[in-house]
Amino acid sequence: MLTTHQFGRIGMGCMGLSGNYGHGLSHHDFVALIKDAVSLGIRIFDTADCYDETTNGKQSSGASGHNERLLGQGLRESNIVRSELYIASKCGFLTTDWSLDLSPEHIRKACEQSLINLDTTYIDTYYLHRLPKTKSELIKCLDMLATLMHENKIKQIGLSEASAKSIEYTHRYFKNLGMPHAIGAIENEFSLFTQDVLHNGVLAACQALGIAFVPYSPLCRGLLTDTMSKDFTFSNGDFREFLPRFQGDNFLANLKIKEKLALFAKSKGFTLSQLALAWLVSQGDFIFPIPGSRHLSRLQENLGALEITLHADDLQHIQEIIADQVQGDRYTADMREAQHLYP
Ligand SMILES: NC(=O)c1ccc[n+]([C@@H]2O[C@H](COP(=O)([O-])OP(=O)(O)OC[C@H]3O[C@@H](n4cnc5c(N)ncnc54)[C@H](OP(=O)(O)O)[C@@H]3O)[C@@H](O)[C@H]2O)c1
Repeated sequence: MLTTHQFGRIGMGCMGLSGNYGHGLSHHDFVALIKDAVSLGIRIFDTADCYDETTNGKQSSGASGHNERLLGQGLRESNIVRSELYIASKCGFLTTDWSLDLSPEHIRKACEQSLINLDTTYIDTYYLHRLPKTKSELIKCLDMLATLMHENKIKQIGLSEASAKSIEYTHRYFKNLGMPHAIGAIENEFSLFTQDVLHNGVLAACQALGIAFVPYSPLCRGLLTDTMSKDFTFSNGDFREFLPRFQGDNFLANLKIKEKLALFAKSKGFTLSQLALAWLVSQGDFIFPIPGSRHLSRLQENLGALEITLHADDLQHIQEIIADQVQGDRYTADMREAQHLYP
């Protein structure tokens, strides 16, 4: 179970280390960064079998697990006791064509391969990277995940991009099976720029049911950091250039909001990314953000958010700035359809 006491409050999202937002790290640098992250005290690591070098603008070989393998190596070389780590991975996407395979057969095969990749005997939370569209398909997935739990291959089940309705339904399903704690975490996008979960019942459902909430892209994929400006150019293979928020007038409008937030952060003596993470942490003690960075100094900077307390007037001021309205959807309509994103 994900608890602050055991694993800390801010984890590390490993996706970008393989690519996705520009170049990935070399094998050596990847492993070294994981070891440094452990030395900094990071204990929560988020990966997926599809976080691959193929996301780095290269042709897919069909093989996946690059990110899991290097994470596994870094953790092994850290010589840290396994029980002190919280490792989460995900299944569902095929890197050959980015379609979804949520069949029970695929889930089992993917989980067993992830255990090999990560060089571990169990995964703390194993997520469905996306949920199937029908209830009957979902039940088949849940039954397979329950089997993997019984086999001690996974400790708990996670859902990524889940609606409040799906969270309540799956929780009830497992409760009726005598497994009230089967759902360990929900991982949806959540940041100052993506506040949907505050209003659509997702956070409320997690809190009410005692489920951890893991905000993905907590820095809005870099938009909530000091590095993005109007002169920013997307390098080859940078997935963000396809996302509406990072395009044309939307991008310029969002940068203006970001600049206001950055000024506010500076006036308080911290950085924008620290403000963004402190804001997330202030939303509830069941919330565990997983920012990603390829730089040790930034991992360190981001952990600084834990030193910050935002008071009621700070939170109000932040909301007033955001009231300017972030422009552009977080994904394109095609991606929403293909990836079964919840509304
Ligand atoms: N479940 C899902 O569907 C899903 C989807 C997306 C992501 N995720 C998970 O969430 C994790 C985090 O999300 P994310 O990587 O999309 O986005 P993010 O954490 O919101 O932002 C990452 C970006 O911010 C930059 N950055 C981080 N800290 C910084 C700092 N202090 N100063 C300046 N720049 C900074 C990074 O650049 P550098 O690397 O250059 O530092 C990177 O480009 C992923 O690694 C992945 O594990 C899950």
